[in-house]
Amino acid sequence: MTDVIPPTIDIHLSPRDLRDAMEHDVRTGLTAAPKMLPPVYFYDERGSKLFDAITRLPEYYPTRSERSILDAHARDIAGRSEADTLVELGAGTCEKSRVLLDAMQSTGLLRRFVPLDVSDTTLWEAATTLAEEYPGLEVSAVVGDFHRHLDLLPTDGRRLFAFLGGTIGNLDPGQRREFFIKLGKVMMMGDRLLLGTDLVKDRTRLVDAYDDDAGVTAEFNRNVLHVLNRELGADFDPARFEHVARWNEPDQRIEMWLRSDQDQQIHVADLDLDLAFRAGEEMLTEISTKFSPAALEAELNECGFVVESMYASDGEEFLMTVARPSS
Ligand code: AVJ
Repeated sequence: MTDVIPPTIDIHLSPRDLRDAMEHDVRTGLTAAPKMLPPVYFYDERGSKLFDAITRLPEYYPTRSERSILDAHARDIAGRSEADTLVELGAGTCEKSRVLLDAMQSTGLLRRFVPLDVSDTTLWEAATTLAEEYPGLEVSAVVGDFHRHLDLLPTDGRRLFAFLGGTIGNLDPGQRREFFIKLGKVMMMGDRLLLGTDLVKDRTRLVDAYDDDAGVTAEFNRNVLHVLNRELGADFDPARFEHVARWNEPDQRIEMWLRSDQDQQIHVADLDLDLAFRAGEEMLTEISTKFSPAALEAELNECGFVVESMYASDGEEFLMTVARPSS
């Protein structure tokens, strides 16, 4: 019997840091034109549950498509990478990590799991569960953010960096470029990136995935207002904002907006901020970029990566790419 190794947790984001970042992001976003909010603030406890419900909606194909690719190819990916360490960026509940961990275990190389996430409670729970499920696995959780803390990740071993779910699509081209270049710098020879991206497809199918009949995505979208009310003393009435999901063709992305259904004044007490929304005014809450395999490969090449393999799901709905730094 191999013993369970108690997980460790490395905290690079204190509650104070998170608070400062939120105040800064919200002030900047709400005073911009158009108004906007970063998607990271969707995910409080209620938001995470709503997102979980989204992943099970009939309209929301990305989670299932990605899962089918992992089920079919995780062993191949693990085998070729020869990695002993799985680093998962934005790990959340680590639900998908198990497929990769199982595959890496079957190569006999698996030694360490490094999940990175901004939420310390989610991470601690997941880390504890996984350490128990995988005796002998060293779980080194890192509370941090993938924009700022990539260089604080453990560097030993041969690492497979997984960035799953299509979360890279939340970044605009400039942010993606910055992220890929930073990541390429911290990756060493032998390390691999496993990247999940949603693919461009029929626009109705895309829009439906972000505007489901049951209204779960609408509630998820409005949840950010509940978060601002609670965390920053704002007085948004979420019922006065409509969910809008739209395909932006030139930028190849789904955009989620919240549309004010009337003229209204909002006060954000903790920021000492007064805002006016006009009737019909829209605030951008999320972008979800969709890729073509060729465009993604070109972008990775420009940022210093070489693509080793690409795996598409049935019907070319979703793509998983394995890449390595080019030097
Ligand atoms: C978690 C960022 C991949 O963009 O599809 C789902 C979030 N937003 N429905 C996505 C989301 C609305 C999701 N990601």
